[in-house]
Amino acid sequence: MKINVLLSPVFADELYYSGKVTAVIDVLRATTTICTALANGAKEVIPVASVESAVKVSGGMFGGLTLLGGERNTKKIEGFALGNSPLEYTQEVVQGKSIVLYTTNGSKAIVKAKFSSKLFILSFNNLNAVAEKLLSLDKDIEILCSGRNNGFSLEDTICAGKLITEIMKVKEDAELSDGAKISYNINKTLGKNLHKVLMESDHGKILSANGFDEDLNYCSKLNTYDIVPLYSSNVIKISH
Ligand code: MLT
Repeated sequence: MKINVLLSPVFADELYYSGKVTAVIDVLRATTTICTALANGAKEVIPVASVESAVKVSGGMFGGLTLLGGERNTKKIEGFALGNSPLEYTQEVVQGKSIVLYTTNGSKAIVKAKFSSKLFILSFNNLNAVAEKLLSLDKDIEILCSGRNNGFSLEDTICAGKLITEIMKVKEDAELSDGAKISYNINKTLGKNLHKVLMESDHGKILSANGFDEDLNYCSKLNTYDIVPLYSSNVIKISH
């Protein structure tokens, strides 16, 4: 098994993902929000790469059963029902609903990797479940970090490193690319106190300044959910 980590979405174009098994990460906060929404009973999450697509896609769906969610500069977008805080995606709010989600980095990264043969959604909250799924497939793996504004983000890289660490407990001989080795080693050095990592990260500081301290706590929790969200035919659902 070969494992590669793309430390930012700029490292590859859409066609790169064709036929590959990919896990996308945006710990703060898109992939954590997607896991939460699905764990709380949302029917599906539809990630989109622009606000215009969000409005267009939701316009063609049944009003009461669809919710528009997402953020610009961490804040809810005008006219949207929900922002991008996972804490908003409670069972009462999302049960049975289709959620169209636009976020600055995360939803775009997912859409970019859409040609993958299997595309999984990863956060700290569902790390072991995704690791188990990837081990059962036993294929080479691409891990895509959504990062920040086409740059690197510490929290996504540490999450990639933790996934690799989990996989290597079983596949000791997995072959790591340079990006995978960096992630593995950064997790070893910095990945013990995840809450601290998130609070001290570039995006974590911005979220904290905007009043989202509770989100940092929530997004830092390991294995809250035993679910594997899978993107297929433009929608994300729990894979069974
Ligand atoms: C993103 O996709 O850039 C993030 O999820 C932003 C956020 O924290 O809301």
